[in-house]
Amino acid sequence: MGGEIRHFIKCIECGMEYEPSPIYRCGRCNGLLEIRIKLPDRNILLSWKSRAFNVWRYRELLPVDDYNMVVSMDEGGTRLLNLDRVGESIGKSGFRLFLKVEGDNPTGSFKDRGMTVGVTKAREFKYTRVACASTGNTSASMAAYAARAGLEPIVFIPRGKIARGKLSQAIAYGATIVEVEGVFDDALRKVFDYVAKNKVYLLNSINPYRLEGQKTIAYEIYEQLGKVPDYIVVPVGNAGNISAIWKGFKELFEIGVINCLPIMVGVQAEGASPLAKAYMEKRSFKPLEDPRTLASAIRIGNPVNWPKAWRAVEESNGFFLTVSDEEIVSAQMKLAREEGILVEPASASPLAALLKNQDAFEGNIVLIATGHGLKDPDILMKWPYKTGSI
Ligand code: F0G
Repeated sequence: MGGEIRHFIKCIECGMEYEPSPIYRCGRCNGLLEIRIKLPDRNILLSWKSRAFNVWRYRELLPVDDYNMVVSMDEGGTRLLNLDRVGESIGKSGFRLFLKVEGDNPTGSFKDRGMTVGVTKAREFKYTRVACASTGNTSASMAAYAARAGLEPIVFIPRGKIARGKLSQAIAYGATIVEVEGVFDDALRKVFDYVAKNKVYLLNSINPYRLEGQKTIAYEIYEQLGKVPDYIVVPVGNAGNISAIWKGFKELFEIGVINCLPIMVGVQAEGASPLAKAYMEKRSFKPLEDPRTLASAIRIGNPVNWPKAWRAVEESNGFFLTVSDEEIVSAQMKLAREEGILVEPASASPLAALLKNQDAFEGNIVLIATGHGLKDPDILMKWPYKTGSI
């Protein structure tokens, strides 16, 4: 591949179209942007089958024209495991649970799918520095991909509020760490200011290219399950991932690979649920000043992609749910102790939501486990455990 440009950028609010370029919001109405790919026909499935199972298997649907520019670490291709023991313990007939284990990615979270595309674009657009605000995983992932591309990573994090596993990754991969007082939302404001004044590429999920990599979760689930699941349940923080997964399914539908779509369910932690609450209470979205939850990955009060996530849920006839910190930890423990799968707290929120609202689900249900359990070891050390003397 090379030469031919197969995509453009479009504002989701006013429809304004842009050439491929490093922009983050619509210049006319300030709306969020999305990438529009010139979609291939359904025979593309045959090409996919002959390739390795990773993000770049789906390269025709990704906005990179010169494949030689790609910065990759074989991300994607994560396991889709059944949760039959957990399913049986629920004791409800007519449904089957699956977990998409995104902790399998190179830096231990789904962010790597976005960063392989985002950092590739940084290189194409000739940046030497990249930046993001982060609750942890984005910073770890961006720092790793920047290192691999020979770019300089700068991460803005809320002081004292990101899990140790994640901060230590960002340090290890050589990022410049800027600690900001407050929460993630304050760090995001700071990084917006910073990139407006400096030649630095922004790799938060407001960057529409990054979300393109993340939509491959949808393609993989379809291929692994051999069909479209009935429900996809996703933790929601800055609200990019749920939007990306929905976009992926819609594209498969437009190509004609699938003829139905899943119901999208977004899960937020009770103390950090501005989007879920607005949707459930049928009122307009209002940011939350002081988000609180032990699931630090999704401790976000002003999710920048909320309009995209709102649409994903609405278009799919889906819904939002909230779960308490206790429910999150108990689901996290259940996954570890009944299935042998360790995920971080945010990533257990889909199971917590399902356990709490069993009657809202039926059929094949895929829970997205967004990050690895070792990201946040301090939480695990507080769990009760058996001791013995032998
Ligand atoms: N789960 C994990 C483990 C995350 O790290 C995040 C987001 C989410 C879920 C929510 O995804 O923001 O697309 O709705 N973490 C970001 C970060 C904010 O900085 O690492 P989202």
